[in-house]
Amino acid sequence: MTNNTIETILKRYSCRDFTGRLPADEDLRLIAKAAVAAPSGSNRQLWRVIVVKNRRLISDMEGEGLRMLAAMPDKTMYERIMSRGGKLFYNAPCMMVIPLAKAVPPGAELFDCGIIAENIALAAASLGIDNVICGLTVFCFAGDRRDEFNNRLGFPPGYEIGLSVLLGFAQTPGKPHEPDTAKISFIE
Ligand SMILES: Cc1cc2nc3c(=O)[nH]c(=O)nc-3n(C[C@H](O)[C@H](O)[C@H](O)COP(=O)(O)O)c2cc1C
Repeated sequence: MTNNTIETILKRYSCRDFTGRLPADEDLRLIAKAAVAAPSGSNRQLWRVIVVKNRRLISDMEGEGLRMLAAMPDKTMYERIMSRGGKLFYNAPCMMVIPLAKAVPPGAELFDCGIIAENIALAAASLGIDNVICGLTVFCFAGDRRDEFNNRLGFPPGYEIGLSVLLGFAQTPGKPHEPDTAKISFIE
């Protein structure tokens, strides 16, 4: 037995090679609506969803993120990106940026952030739009261009980057990872 929701969950995979073709505005609106339908602790909704189609802004952020990663004492992450083609955003034509306000106690907003990101990923996958959640986006905000990007993205005061989800269409469609059912146990 299955259904469309389970099928979407099982077919989602992280795309790291986009063609650059933009999804339709209508689909982006639907995905953004699915995003803000996400549950959050006490329904506090300490997030925003910013749909970025501005290639210049995406490219400026990517350049800064790579620069910050290259400057890290531990080069593991930077080298991994370089070995995958040197792209942080994989030529994605669109990103949904999720800035967050701090919860009390601080840190609780991160659960909500992961959930809204997954809503975006699943809504996109259900519409045939390839995507990848991109935690490395935080590096674009790790240096002295943070305020510039906060402004260009229109973050409300007090909001800081959480995650982004890159959206578009794959050059070569990928495959979902094999779910590891050995991680599941039942206690009766
Ligand atoms: C919170 C979070 C952050 C992630 N950040 C990145 C990222 O910055 N770059 C990237 O290529 N993939 C990123 N991913 C994707 C994971 O690497 C991916 O989900 C994992 O390897 C499993 O592969 P799958 O999504 O194809 O099943 C992130 C995933 C999550 C949940």
